[in-house]
Amino acid sequence: MPNIGSIPDPRLVDLEDLRALRYRSFTFPTHANLLSQTERPEVVAIGLERAGRPIGLGLGMRGNSEAYSGDILSLAVAAEYRTQGYGSALLNRLECRLQQKGACFASLQYMSHQKSTPYLERMLRSAGWEEPVHRQLFCASTYTRILKAPWMRFRTLPDGFETFSWPAGLQDSEWKRLTGEGGRASWFPELLNPLHSVEDIDGENSLGLRFRGDLVGWLIAFRIAPTTVRYQKLFIKDEFQKQGLAIRLLAMGIYPLPSTGVDSAVWDVIPTSKNMLNFVERGLRPYCTEYKWSMGAIKRFS
Ligand SMILES: CC(C)(COP(=O)(O)OP(=O)(O)OC[C@H]1O[C@@H](n2cnc3c(N)ncnc32)[C@H](O)[C@@H]1OP(=O)(O)O)[C@@H](O)C(=O)NCCC(=O)NCCS
Repeated sequence: MPNIGSIPDPRLVDLEDLRALRYRSFTFPTHANLLSQTERPEVVAIGLERAGRPIGLGLGMRGNSEAYSGDILSLAVAAEYRTQGYGSALLNRLECRLQQKGACFASLQYMSHQKSTPYLERMLRSAGWEEPVHRQLFCASTYTRILKAPWMRFRTLPDGFETFSWPAGLQDSEWKRLTGEGGRASWFPELLNPLHSVEDIDGENSLGLRFRGDLVGWLIAFRIAPTTVRYQKLFIKDEFQKQGLAIRLLAMGIYPLPSTGVDSAVWDVIPTSKNMLNFVERGLRPYCTEYKWSMGAIKRFS
């Protein structure tokens, strides 16, 4: 790694005024507004420049609610300057500044399966970061491609089971069972709560599952673009798992998509269930056009 703190060019610059705006193209649109707020005590922006021209940026923020965290929001080096140690230098300066602002640890989220991922992970390892963890899986596919999956044929249910449109077909007693006594039922993980953002659910493509009249599962879809659905919550009650019901529910949900104008789907899978991850790995991944994990890494400063 070059000792770029002591050589004039390229060099690291602490961005503390509106000059930071020149680095806008090196961060995500959602964080770009922070470049006009570098005077805020919790914001850290480190520029990398060559002959006065921006060629990289590290952007971080000390946590507000949790004053001891230091989130690295983005880290980027212009393509022609990569793999020369500048990324590591930016990371190092970001860590120092976050620490000076009182952070006890730094955290970073990134996507797996990208061109830069192996370099980033190597960089984190060398800088003493803990082993990254898997946070959430994102898969995407087209209708034509997913239709080729062998399990798409399984569109019937064993005796006693039936599907219904979600949420239109939910009965009052079922709403009550989902909200529970204290406003939160405990028979499903909160992350798979089917009532969150209920007003945004794609009612044409979401299904509930009953066994002999009892609610035992659901497949919840959101329309994220005119022709794309996002499946966010697929749940089967504990005692009904391992009978292939989730796969049948998914096949029954996907098959009629074109009749509602949908030609592609994305899935968010939270790694809470080993069964679901196994299915995604073997049944879904081979038919996906995109497959990537959101990863999380931290480094403790103490
Ligand atoms: C991630 C990124 C910032 C890294 O910047 P960089 O300047 O290339 O980083 P470095 O040069 O410091 O190198 C990173 C590691 O890759 C290693 N590396 C460099 N070239 C390599 C090669 N050809 N093969 C294998 N490893 C290599 C380096 O040795 C270093 O590892 P080390 O610290 O163990 O020595 C840069 O790739 C980038 O801007 N990517 C796009 C944005 C992004 O994905 N950001 C991360 C999430 S916000």
